[in-house]
Amino acid sequence: MGKVILSASGKGGVGKSIFTANLGATLAERGLKIVMIDMNVGLRNLDIYMGLENKVIYDVADVLSGVCRPGKAMVRDKRFPSLYVMPATQKKEKFDASHSDVARLYAGLKENYDFILVDGPAGVTKELSLAAAGADLGLIITTLEYVSLRDADMADSLLVESGLRKRAYVLNKVDRALLRTGILPTFEDVSFIMKPPLLGIIQNDVNIHLSANCGIPIVCQKGNYIEENFNRIADRIIGY
Ligand SMILES: Nc1ncnc2c1ncn2[C@@H]1O[C@H](COP(=O)(O)OP(=O)(O)OP(=O)(O)O)[C@@H](O)[C@H]1O
Ligand SMILES: [Mg+2]
Repeated sequence: MGKVILSASGKGGVGKSIFTANLGATLAERGLKIVMIDMNVGLRNLDIYMGLENKVIYDVADVLSGVCRPGKAMVRDKRFPSLYVMPATQKKEKFDASHSDVARLYAGLKENYDFILVDGPAGVTKELSLAAAGADLGLIITTLEYVSLRDADMADSLLVESGLRKRAYVLNKVDRALLRTGILPTFEDVSFIMKPPLLGIIQNDVNIHLSANCGIPIVCQKGNYIEENFNRIADRIIGY
């Protein structure tokens, strides 16, 4: 039986989609069967980060409204045969799914996939609550900025209200040189703000940005320290 892991944040742009893409590739590299669902309704991104945008025909709204079966809306990755993307709809008005529709979709996929990685929307919204329906683990992605941390804490509370009790957080874009200035919140400060435990840290690296624009998850470029960051997170997720 697979597990559904939702990436959430309060503040936008903290790296949820990059995280989902790279975690998906890291887990698929280990031979696990993975589907990544883009639940950022109206703002589809994951297909571009995976370099699959030209292959999209159906989307998650088509699946949830019964237009097609889940398999029809899943685009297979070019690099890993066991990795799929289910794109978000671009048309927000087309999306009127209920919590039970989403939970049913996740439950069906759990029978055939090891992990269902859900790329959630930014904000503390009903769309986030919908993406959390029936998820097993919520990962709050945040950066080391007070605004990002406060919003992460708000998103965490919404996940709890939505019934998601198992959560952890990931610190993204960590810049050790900036940390040494003493101006940013320290890891200890963060642990006071965030209620769930820390799952892992991903360093700031401009190559992530470049790689994303080429449609290649950076973990596919072997031997870099970002790959190491993701491998540690994947080990912990598998052991959760
Ligand atoms: N560790 C990192 N180092 C450097 N740049 C990063 C890192 N993680 C993400 N980025 C960059 O940050 C930007 C936002 O990333 P991403 O789209 O994944 O954020 P998001 O949280 O999904 O945004 P949204 O809230 O709009 O969905 C992108 O330009 C991406 O390349
Ligand atoms: Mg995103």
